[in-house]
Amino acid sequence: MSKKYKIAIIGFGNVGQGLAKLLSDKQTLLSEKFGIDISTVAVCDFLKGSVADPDGLDHNELLRHIEEHGNLNKMQTPFSGWDAEETIAKSGADILIELAYTDLKTGEPALSHVKQALSNGMHVSMTNKGPVALAFPELRKLAADNNVQIGIEGTVMSGTPSLSLGNDMLLAAGITKIQGILNGTTNYILCEMEKGLEYQVALDQATDLGYAEADPSGDVDGHDAAAKVVILGNLFMGLDLTLSDIDCTGISAITSKDIENATLENKHWKLIGTVGKTESGFIASVKPEMISKNHPLASISGATNALTYSTEILGDVTIIGPGAGRLETGYAVIEDILAIHKNS
Ligand code: HSE
Repeated sequence: MSKKYKIAIIGFGNVGQGLAKLLSDKQTLLSEKFGIDISTVAVCDFLKGSVADPDGLDHNELLRHIEEHGNLNKMQTPFSGWDAEETIAKSGADILIELAYTDLKTGEPALSHVKQALSNGMHVSMTNKGPVALAFPELRKLAADNNVQIGIEGTVMSGTPSLSLGNDMLLAAGITKIQGILNGTTNYILCEMEKGLEYQVALDQATDLGYAEADPSGDVDGHDAAAKVVILGNLFMGLDLTLSDIDCTGISAITSKDIENATLENKHWKLIGTVGKTESGFIASVKPEMISKNHPLASISGATNALTYSTEILGDVTIIGPGAGRLETGYAVIEDILAIHKNS
C-alpha cells in the first residue's frame, strides 16, 4: 500500500507543467519503487487560474487545458478561483509546491506562501530562489518548530542533486570553496554566440526552451547565479551572505567580438560563480571569465551547469548536469518529495 501525499502547486509555468508531466509519466514507478502516491489536489496560478479537487486533479487534463486554452479557466473542478492564500488554507494538501516567480529583492509573494504553509504544518518544496536566498534560516526554524520539512533541491542546478551531494555527503569533508557554472541561460547564450548567433536571438531561444527566468534580466545580469552563490555559501560554509555581498557582473556587456577574440585564443567565456573562505573572511562573486579550452569547465555547454566542491578531505568533487529546464527542474520537486518521505 503506497503512502499518499497530497500536493498543492502554486505557480503553473514551465516548472509546474514539467512537474505535472512527470507525475503523470512516473506515477507507477513512484508507487512501485518508492511506495508513494502523489495526488495534486490544487493548482493556483496568478495568470492561468486556479482549480482544486480533494480527490486529485488529472495531470494530463491540466496540461491539455494549458496547451489548448493557455489557462485553467474552463476546467470543471469542485473548486476554482482560489488565490494562493486560500489554496494553502483550504486545499488539504500535505505539501506546498512553491513555484511562483522569483523576486530576489523581497522574496514575495513566495516568502509569504512558504511561511503560511509551514505555520499550517505543511511540508514545502520550492524551486524559487527568492525565499531561500533571503530568509532560509528563518524558514528552517519555522519548519523545525512545526515539525515539517523544507526541500530546496531545485534552487541550484535544477534537478541535478547538487545540494543533497553537499549536504548529505560532503559537509563532513570540510567544504572550503565552491565554484562553478550556475546559470543555464547564460551558458546557453555564450555557447550559441560562439556558434555565430546574435545575443538577443540566443536569449529568445533560452526563453522558449524554458531556461530563462520570467524576467531574464535576472539571468543575464548575474543575479540568478548570485542568489545561488548566496544559497551555497550560507548552507555549506556557515556564512551569512546576502545578495549585496556578491561581487556580481553579468554577461550583457560581452559582445560577439569578445566571443570571436576568445575563440581565436582557443578560449571560452563562462559565467563563473565562486564562494570561498579566506584568512580575512570570504570571497563571493559572479563574473564572466575567459577560460582556456583545457580548463575543467570549458566543455560545459548549453544549459548544463557544473559545480566543484573543494574539500579538506577529498580535494575537489565536481557534479555536472542540467541547470535549468521544465522537466529538469520539475524533477527536483520529485527529489524533494522523496526526501520528505524518507525523513518522515
Ligand atoms: N533561469 C535559471 C537558469 C533557471 O537559467 O539557470 C534555473 O535556476
